[in-house]
Amino acid sequence: MPPGLPPAIVEGQPLTALAPMQDVTDLAFMRVVGHYGAPDYFFTEFFRVHAQSRPEKHILRSIDENLTGRPVFAQLIGEDIAHMVRTAEALARHPIAGIDINLGCPAPKIYKKNVGGGLLRDPERVGAILATLRAAVPGLLTVKMRIGFEDTSNLDRIVDLVNEHRIDLLTVHGRTVREMYRSEVHYDQIARAAARARCPVLANGNVTSALRAREIVSQTGSRGVMIGRHAIRNPWIFAQCREAFAGLPPSAVTLGDVRGYVDRLYRETRDPEVPERAHVNKMKKYLNFVGQGVDPRGDFLHDMRRAESEAQLFGICDRHLLADAGLPFSLEPYPGVIARPNCETPSETADGCSLETVSA
Ligand SMILES: Cc1cc2nc3c(=O)[nH]c(=O)nc-3n(C[C@H](O)[C@H](O)[C@H](O)COP(=O)(O)O)c2cc1C
Repeated sequence: MPPGLPPAIVEGQPLTALAPMQDVTDLAFMRVVGHYGAPDYFFTEFFRVHAQSRPEKHILRSIDENLTGRPVFAQLIGEDIAHMVRTAEALARHPIAGIDINLGCPAPKIYKKNVGGGLLRDPERVGAILATLRAAVPGLLTVKMRIGFEDTSNLDRIVDLVNEHRIDLLTVHGRTVREMYRSEVHYDQIARAAARARCPVLANGNVTSALRAREIVSQTGSRGVMIGRHAIRNPWIFAQCREAFAGLPPSAVTLGDVRGYVDRLYRETRDPEVPERAHVNKMKKYLNFVGQGVDPRGDFLHDMRRAESEAQLFGICDRHLLADAGLPFSLEPYPGVIARPNCETPSETADGCSLETVSA
């Protein structure tokens, strides 16, 4: 492990991280994942930086009240360098593991302002941001990027900037901004970045299971994996990765275990000020992913989407998950069972990605 990065839970194993996900990876969700087996690192959803911005209170809670015992990196998205420095300094007063810069968000409202993934078109600007933040941030500075905007022509240049500015950890999501979330993942391009980068690289994109994590680490030569949507589907995935990295078969999960997860997620993410119906709707967004491992025909997804109350939702969960609670939960998503069909593109007005718009 290079000096500086927090140690892995199991020394010498590839690293695991929970991907930052807007409106998902909040304090409650991190707590749920921590219960089933924390990743080595957490990342907050992005703090949006602009002239009037102040670090969002609900995101700060995921740092200040984190009891998982694992480090949390605070992610920033922005293009105004002075305000990014101001925000990084403000965040340094909280117990963060480091600052992570978002160079990947594909929401049009974001990239059109040359923020997030939009910055990949402008390596000079990326260089200026990294240079200034590197000088201003005394602790760890990390980057999360896609492999390009339209194509991968800037990939080497951006990785060279990562090297020049002594970035401590680089996460590479193996898609371009144009490819959004559902195209195939270009693991060869992650390998290209990992071979060029001097810092450890985390491979990201469709790491669907612990066994895939092990394959992707060896295929890309990266130092670990970052997992997003498949940790919503299967919060046991980080514990299973540690088993797989140790050469053991990943522990099985039953449908009964999944029923327990649904219950825990419901309770932990419940905000007493939010009406029951709205909370049920929020749960359905998580369950869209969970349903990919419940049955190969998508019957659970079909029924779950029709729930209108807590009682209906849990009735449906009981029917599908407890009728034969010992049946295995599939560790890979069932082929063709789609979390949210036809909803790939964030609207022109969405200022980020959310479960409303991103499928798997
Ligand atoms: C609902 C949602 C919200 C996301 N929000 C962020 C974010 O705030 N910052 C970021 O860098 N990436 C964000 N992403 C991208 C993920 O971190 C990750 O790169 C992407 O989902 C691919 O990994 P996966 O296939 O493991 O999900 C988001 C993805 C999803 C699905």
